Amino acid sequence: MRSIRLWAAACLAALLTGCAPKQEVNPICSGTIWPDDQGVHVNAHGGGVLYHEGVYYWYGENKSDTTSNAMVGVMCYSSPNLTDWKNEGVALAVEKNDTASDIVQGCIIERPKVIYNEQTKKFVMWFHLELKGQGYGAARSAVAISDTPVGPFRYIGSGRVNLSRLPFDMTDEQKAILDTLDAAHYPVEWTPEWRKAVEEGLFLKRDLPGGQMARDMQLFVDDDGKAYHIYSSEENMTMQIAELSDDYLSHTGKYTRMAAGGMNEAPALFKHKNTYWMITSGCTGWAPNEARMFSAPSIWGPWTQHPNPCVGPKSEITFGGQSTFVLPVPGKQDTTYIFMADIWRPEHPSDARYIWLPIQFKADGTPVIEWKEQWTLN
Ligand code: GAL
Repeated sequence: MRSIRLWAAACLAALLTGCAPKQEVNPICSGTIWPDDQGVHVNAHGGGVLYHEGVYYWYGENKSDTTSNAMVGVMCYSSPNLTDWKNEGVALAVEKNDTASDIVQGCIIERPKVIYNEQTKKFVMWFHLELKGQGYGAARSAVAISDTPVGPFRYIGSGRVNLSRLPFDMTDEQKAILDTLDAAHYPVEWTPEWRKAVEEGLFLKRDLPGGQMARDMQLFVDDDGKAYHIYSSEENMTMQIAELSDDYLSHTGKYTRMAAGGMNEAPALFKHKNTYWMITSGCTGWAPNEARMFSAPSIWGPWTQHPNPCVGPKSEITFGGQSTFVLPVPGKQDTTYIFMADIWRPEHPSDARYIWLPIQFKADGTPVIEWKEQWTLN
């Protein structure tokens, strides 16, 4: 009898908790300090988010107080709801002692992104790597792999991209022009002639033997499981979009150029109702500038430029930030797309802030990003 009473009491308690008002969802406040589970500001800059088995994993650059160089590596934070973040520690650590390593402490690791490969069941991280002591000259892409989302990721290697390959969609006419391009014809940079030659592939041609440069980058996995690497190439003058192999660990050699000569950085890509959208920034280093937006019916283009998607105060400088990722969050009725950007603080890199804003869509499908002091995901 006693056990029945206990059981009934337990059921009643469960019922009551089940009916209790839902826990308040925390608002998202861009530009403020975002404390993690230890009360410390999230340190995951230039980041991206992976949703895996009910948990969001946020990966980003660990920035120290005095330098933007990589002193720690790539951080991982996890969350069930996108507002409560648990510090999962260093997902990919820099090498402290091995000075021969590409990722020795003091190198530059930027814009890490992680995707999950359904076939191999591995988590694959790509990031922009600059070798220690070489400024931004190396312009390499690096890859690492892990069995679990939180790591530790094992560093595989780095290099330039798509050696000796021409874009798959270059026409014979474009190839003929490329043949004639010669840096010696343009002793002075930034002249209209030089800009035209850059647009036509001056740097692409220069880099054929060693591979294409790749700096600010993004990864995108399409509905069919194919993954793409999108990066600022050709001295940051032209974007390239390259296909990754089925295991996501290398490039297949198939790539296209996008917005040739347009000087785009910080690409963030998403697909909405069969249209591919890309938000980028201009090239002004850590200083914010006006966001750009492009759309295409296929990842391979043709890409069309649209006006700045941002509206509201400081929309002409992306609210003081620079794009880093767009996160689709499936909801009860619709998917919410979150535009993620970084407010850099080069004089105090770890104090850089985050902008997360919902993307709204006009009746014709065009994305709009409106500044909101705070908003709630529900
Ligand atoms: C930005 C770029 C950042 C970082 C910075 C260095 O334009 O988006 O990732 O490379 O330049 O100045």
